[in-house]
Amino acid sequence: GSTFCKGVPHDGQDLLPEQTAGKQKPYMYTQGQAVLNRSFFPGFDTPAVKCTYSATVQVPEGFTAVMSATTWEKQKDNTFVFKMEHPIPSYLIALAVGDIVSAEVGPRSRVWAEPCLIEAAKKEYDGVIEEFLAVGEKLFGPYVWGRYDVLFMPPSFPFGGMENPCITFVTPCLLAGDRSLVDVIIHEISHSWFGNLVTNATWGEFWLNEGFTMYAQRRISTEVYGSAYTCLEAATGRALLRQHMDTTGEEHPLNKLRVVIEPGVNPDDTYNETPYEKGFCFVSYLAHLVGDQRKFDSFLQAYVEQFKFQSITADDALNFFLEYFPDLKKQGVDSRPGLEFDRWLNTPGWPPFLPDLSPGQQLMKPADELAELWASDGLNMEKIEAVDISAWKTYQLVYFLDRILQKSPLPDGNVERLSTTYPKISKAQNAELRLRWCQIVLRNNHEAEYSKVKAFLHSQGKQKYTLPLYRAMWGGSEAARALAMETFSATAPQLHINVRNYVKKILGLEGSD
Ligand code: BES
Ligand code: ZN
Repeated sequence: GSTFCKGVPHDGQDLLPEQTAGKQKPYMYTQGQAVLNRSFFPGFDTPAVKCTYSATVQVPEGFTAVMSATTWEKQKDNTFVFKMEHPIPSYLIALAVGDIVSAEVGPRSRVWAEPCLIEAAKKEYDGVIEEFLAVGEKLFGPYVWGRYDVLFMPPSFPFGGMENPCITFVTPCLLAGDRSLVDVIIHEISHSWFGNLVTNATWGEFWLNEGFTMYAQRRISTEVYGSAYTCLEAATGRALLRQHMDTTGEEHPLNKLRVVIEPGVNPDDTYNETPYEKGFCFVSYLAHLVGDQRKFDSFLQAYVEQFKFQSITADDALNFFLEYFPDLKKQGVDSRPGLEFDRWLNTPGWPPFLPDLSPGQQLMKPADELAELWASDGLNMEKIEAVDISAWKTYQLVYFLDRILQKSPLPDGNVERLSTTYPKISKAQNAELRLRWCQIVLRNNHEAEYSKVKAFLHSQGKQKYTLPLYRAMWGGSEAARALAMETFSATAPQLHINVRNYVKKILGLEGSD
């Protein structure tokens, strides 16, 4: 383990009071994944190496420090002592310091947030986290990390969630008021087994972390919420993969599960939907080969038991799969034409197998049909008004908006009409809905609502929301480009350094910093 003392430079985020939710006190946090922790502490900053750690952190009066550690203790002089008793890769060491408080939401879970958000945070997750943990344990084996806490970060936090052991860091956008974005928590909980216990040995095999985690997330979601809802959520994931491959071209080398990362290339620059959603398809394909969900769940549990506290490659994982199912090995399932394991790993492009999402049809079909009506030339308002969307879940609306976006630009005037017909969508506070609405506004050059794009980008700095909107603005009209420039100059200081640099690249401002 290593000990570091106050004043050590780091590459996380130092935030001014005005960049926090409460706007009173400064805040700092670290974000290790993928390779940022090398500027936080000296060490082997590779996921191939694991170790325990301890840390002593002294903070000013009125501040609290939290870390990804199994035990912590507050001593005199505002000094916190942390210990992580299990070996973890360096990217999972995380620290946050701010005016933060906590509230209990389960037998082994607390939420942490700035005081002005703690009530909302407690309300969002009170009593729900334990069920996810319990289902995860039933499926994948013991939860070894002791506590599972959630820290709500300042608005500039670049991710939906980061699976720091014992304490997941999440965007405050999850505070939707209706638990509708809880899939992010289920995802981060799933990393407790896939990623944090069994870790990709190199960033080129990141899909081992994220693909298995997407699979585990959707297993837990199916147990808790059923297959209709889970397949709907998976369909929005598939749409993201479609969008990504359409923009990069299917043959792009990053559209392989196993990515070649040349020396000097920042693994963060290879980040995209492929390890998540194509990885999910590959794990689903393995489950399909087995054919029996319960047998495959047992395999996953055995896989965790076999490789826990280790770092592995895809070959290790797949060899273990074939050893675990000797009949499949004998049948040569790893070399079925078109579905070779080698092809899955090393060939870019659309997944050669897609899991069946038809249980989601009951939720998707009405959304498909409604999107069809909105895309037509003469709007049939009678038919449109006959569809009651008031009971639709957030992900159903998200799916509907993705369909609208796919069909955009819509005939003249339709987006304006859509906006007035569904204030629940065009005036939504939910970040997933706001993202889609802003994308629709931009794709349709609907300048009357450009202010919403600006407001959304001012309110948060999540990478997966920020970059698509800047890409859309930069690829759009003169007015859209001006909006991009204006918004970036106002928000740049509050963006995470990585996100800021990616936006610069999109706007052709590279090299000025
Ligand atoms: N580990 C990732 C976040 C990450 C990836 C940080 C790569 C740095 C580099 C985390 O588990 C994640 O995937 N978060 C998603 C959640 C979603 C898939 C439910 C996110 O932030 O959007
Ligand atoms: Zn993840």
